[in-house]
Amino acid sequence: MIHELLAKRYSPRALSDKTIDTEKIVDLLEAARWAPSSMNEQPWRFIIARKEDSSDFHNILGVLNETNKLWAKNASLLILTIAKLETDSAKQINKYALYDLGNAVANLTFQATSMDLFVRQMGGFNPDKAIEVFSIPNDYFPVSVLALGYKGNPGNLPEFLNVRENSVRTRKNLDELAFTGKFGLPYLLSKHVQELN
Ligand SMILES: Cc1cc2nc3c(=O)[nH]c(=O)nc-3n(C[C@H](O)[C@H](O)[C@H](O)COP(=O)(O)O)c2cc1C
Repeated sequence: MIHELLAKRYSPRALSDKTIDTEKIVDLLEAARWAPSSMNEQPWRFIIARKEDSSDFHNILGVLNETNKLWAKNASLLILTIAKLETDSAKQINKYALYDLGNAVANLTFQATSMDLFVRQMGGFNPDKAIEVFSIPNDYFPVSVLALGYKGNPGNLPEFLNVRENSVRTRKNLDELAFTGKFGLPYLLSKHVQELN
């Protein structure tokens, strides 16, 4: 059985416009801050906009692709995530920057889930536009936008998104993902075969 927080998490497009308290936003960012990272570089940065911060909110909304705009406009909070691509000290490429940013977003996501908030991550946005709008320096790269909110009513989505919202969530089987001995030899299957012998 996976942990109930993992089981509860999914990525809704239907988000309510209920305000997220400031203390909760701090908790979300604290959760991200305490993520592990290579050499403790903490190469994650976030640009935060609550719906109430209307010009900031519209600036983030404005970099999204058109389909994402349709539902993300209902979010209570939008966060542009940014990776620092060079290490602080040696000014070398940090090849773990995106990996570490993903760790931080995972922390934030499960903190959100524990507070009955939901997160939908988006790669569907224009990074060049984000760099320009938010004056992002050279060695930083905008990676994703997160839409957060309490659960909303899928009935309020445009019909084609409502259909997607209600479709069954799927995953690859574990034997396509976890190997033993050599790449491609399914771990679970080989264990099962051993048990049969
Ligand atoms: C890096 C990344 C980029 C994504 N980009 C988009 C996006 O642009 N638009 C969107 O609606 N969903 C996007 N998603 C959400 C995924 O489609 C979703 O996580 C996936 O279908 C699995 O569903 P689940 O999160 O409910 O388990 C993205 C998710 C990730 C992690």
